[in-house]
Amino acid sequence: MDLQALPVVQGKYNLENYEDTCANFDWSDTEKQFSWYETGRVNMAYEAIDRHAESFRKNKVALYFRDDNREEKYTFREMKLLTNKAANALKTHGNVEKGDRVFIFMPRSPELYFAILGSIKLGAIVGPLFEAFMEGAVKDRLEDSEAKALVTTPELLERVPVEELPNLKSVFLVGKDIEESDTIIDFNKRMAEADRNLEIEWVDREDGLILHYTSGSTGRPKGVLHVHNAMIQQYQTARWVLDLQEEDVYWCTADPGWVTGTSYGIFGPWLAGASNVIVGGRFKPETWYQTLEDFGVTVWYSAPTAFRMLMSAGDELVKQFDLSELRHVMSVGEPLNPEVIRWGLKVFNKRIHDTWWMTETGAQLIVNFPCLEIKPGSMGKPIPGVEAAIVDDQGNILPPNRMGNLAIKKGWPSMMREIWNNQAKYDSYFLPGGWYVSGDSAYMDEDGYFFFQGRVDDVIMTSGERVGPFEVESKILEHPAVAEAGVIGKPDPVRGEIIKAFVALLEGNEPTDELKEDIRQFVKKGLAAHAAPREIEFRDKLPKTRSGKIMRRVLKAWELDLPTGDLSTMED
Ligand code: PRX
Repeated sequence: MDLQALPVVQGKYNLENYEDTCANFDWSDTEKQFSWYETGRVNMAYEAIDRHAESFRKNKVALYFRDDNREEKYTFREMKLLTNKAANALKTHGNVEKGDRVFIFMPRSPELYFAILGSIKLGAIVGPLFEAFMEGAVKDRLEDSEAKALVTTPELLERVPVEELPNLKSVFLVGKDIEESDTIIDFNKRMAEADRNLEIEWVDREDGLILHYTSGSTGRPKGVLHVHNAMIQQYQTARWVLDLQEEDVYWCTADPGWVTGTSYGIFGPWLAGASNVIVGGRFKPETWYQTLEDFGVTVWYSAPTAFRMLMSAGDELVKQFDLSELRHVMSVGEPLNPEVIRWGLKVFNKRIHDTWWMTETGAQLIVNFPCLEIKPGSMGKPIPGVEAAIVDDQGNILPPNRMGNLAIKKGWPSMMREIWNNQAKYDSYFLPGGWYVSGDSAYMDEDGYFFFQGRVDDVIMTSGERVGPFEVESKILEHPAVAEAGVIGKPDPVRGEIIKAFVALLEGNEPTDELKEDIRQFVKKGLAAHAAPREIEFRDKLPKTRSGKIMRRVLKAWELDLPTGDLSTMED
């Protein structure tokens, strides 16, 4: 296998010399881009939209939208007026004010983006929810955050237990023939009649912006809070890493329910004044290639699972499309196999650039810059202004080529500021010396390239989506036939990992295939399709510690035929 470094392709990049920039860089250089620098106040939506609407970019297309039913485009000027209107509708009919939590739960559409940016213009904290979430997952998040308003569709409203959420005062519905009531408001109607002028709520850099719920290996999903200050790093990486230039057409395939879909589907590209392609609907290789061709996409950000699915659709298919505009391709969310990089070279004649970061980090941290050689299998190097290291469990830095915890020195601009209502959880991320511990294990080679090795905890990455085993186990346990459940990630060639559940049944239940399917459906309906176990295995009993905790490590060893290791804490 050709594991040599892939050399830099000649080009003019926004970051031309990595070493020099690292040596001289100071975040305050980037801060000067934003209104905060002059007035002491800022607002993400102003910087991402209005600023361009008031500049030479006013008639530039900000948003190209396409799904099975709609094809629309909006300039920065139109985006400014429409997000003003959305803000006015939310304020007038939902009393939305600074600091309130507004959740957005709907498939991708222009209205979703108007609602997110409109909420931000009011200083509200936005909670985006992936459209596949079912009632239990929706309720958990709205409850924990004490959301005051929700923007959703009539179809998805069925999954929102409004009566059980006393803090939820208004529900805006995006759809046709909406019947309004005390709580239900017709979003489109109220937007249409709303004033197009708005006094933006100017906020402090440290005020709340967005709340992304994500999973750990224990406990319920946690609310990761980011603040407006994140713009500094999101803007800078949109320049350095996405390498966005004035004429680029950019497409990020992630849904705004996940952090990639907001940090690099909304904030980064628009802070940089780019034309942003948003495509709704389900994944289909033909549609994706068509999108690249039709919009003349030049910069493309996607994920290994998607690349692997395109890869398995065959090379004949890709040849039917004109992808000659494509100039820069990036990947995030899971390890990018060297095999996929080789495929990218073959079919696009492009190096795929891996990027590493997390919900908690708010923006990219370790990446393959366009100006760097790529070592296949490596996530790249830390961005200038950020210190990354491999540390042991006490926070001591380990030398090159030693595996340990991938850690980042606290203080990068887009770092999460809070775990909602859970200070202890927030504190648990840090080691002495000010190291943020990612939960990933990795090593760094002598050239300073980082190589991902795996998760330290039990978090599952399936098709690039992060799933906490505890959440799935809890749901399975609610099934009337189940006594015990343990959930692990099982390696899968396309999806990275799939969710596998080991289940022990209550007496009187037969371990049949029908029951497996029933449990699967139960999780799908209660939580989300992507969280439902693809495989279920019945066992009489599951390995537990004496305190009753399922030993997922042992389940994993069973699955992979590995030694089970130290079993001294097992119950019998
Ligand atoms: O395990 C790492 C994996 O995704 C985790 C973060 O998941 P999430 O918060 O959902 O954010 C995903 C997108 C920002 C990490 O702890 N991960 C992310 N990027 C990579 C990766 N694993 C390997 N290589 C990457 N480039």
